[in-house]
Amino acid sequence: MIKETLAQIEELGGRALAAIKESADLDTVNDLRVKILGKKGELTAVLKTMGRLSAEERPVIGARANEVREAVEKAISEQMKKLKLLHYESRIRKEAIDVTLPGKRAASGKPHPMSIVLGDLKDIFRSMGYTVVTGPEIEETRYVFDMLNTHEGHPARDESDTFYVSDDVILRTQTSSVQIRTMLENKPPIAVISPGRVFRRDEVDATHSPVFNQCEALVVDKGITFADLKGTLETFMKRLYGSSVKLRFRPHHFPYTEPSAEVDLSCFKCGGSGCSMCKNEGWIEMLGAGVVHPQVLRNCGIDPEIYSGFAFGVGLERITMMRYEIDDMRHLYENDIRFLKQF
Ligand code: DAH
Repeated sequence: MIKETLAQIEELGGRALAAIKESADLDTVNDLRVKILGKKGELTAVLKTMGRLSAEERPVIGARANEVREAVEKAISEQMKKLKLLHYESRIRKEAIDVTLPGKRAASGKPHPMSIVLGDLKDIFRSMGYTVVTGPEIEETRYVFDMLNTHEGHPARDESDTFYVSDDVILRTQTSSVQIRTMLENKPPIAVISPGRVFRRDEVDATHSPVFNQCEALVVDKGITFADLKGTLETFMKRLYGSSVKLRFRPHHFPYTEPSAEVDLSCFKCGGSGCSMCKNEGWIEMLGAGVVHPQVLRNCGIDPEIYSGFAFGVGLERITMMRYEIDDMRHLYENDIRFLKQF
């Protein structure tokens, strides 16, 4: 009887120790503890049979059973320690941060080429004492046309050129309307530029868009002449395109200036000898300008006997395209990141 029980205890102990060593997680170890040492466990079950043993046999079995129990308990606590350590080690490996890896740079945007040019333009004119003003894009015809000497029947008012909102409200076709608003609200001396969007019923192509941008300039003071206009435009263009460029003034007609001129720039790429940039002309048409018509001053309550002024209007897309040698206006509107990244 005692041999049998001892053998049972040995077999049980050996099996338990092996199972504990092999267990791969804490739950398995815990289950084994219950299965072997628990109230209904296998070792407990063996000990319950001790009643059938003699008084001499019992202490022998009891002692061996205790040894096995201690061995199993020790194996359990060691295995648990080992498994916990393995668990932490794998977590440390998994959650490790390699501080030597290069960081991920956050992608940042940058100004649109038109914004860069507009910024430069504002800097140039502010440095000459001008103020930057703006006016509405949806505008009354009297500010865009009538008060600028452009009366009913003038081709510029034609519906084929202009987006009409109603008979006397339009999407402005030029920033020149801001000249009128400025002169109505301010007494001379006046020196302003006014950048902004304008609208014309044009089809989209490489050089046209129904929405584009202009910048208007207006100076009104005592004794202002065409010479002031020339000097100002020369300073403006040289600062934008480099000191070697020359200007050419061609007679032209605008209803709101007298005299009026179209102003060309000597090609900054070929220096005037002719290239693809200037279409072999040596000159590039840049803007319209002139001496403010006396009637326009009068319309705004300014006495042309005392004051005179000059004005000009330039296309922002045009000067941007020239500056960066962009051959198609649509690039400026399509927001293709490959294009925009270049500036
Ligand atoms: N408004 C003209 C245009 O849209 C440009 C212009 C010409 C503006 C002469 C002016 C000027 O102020 O005096 O083409």
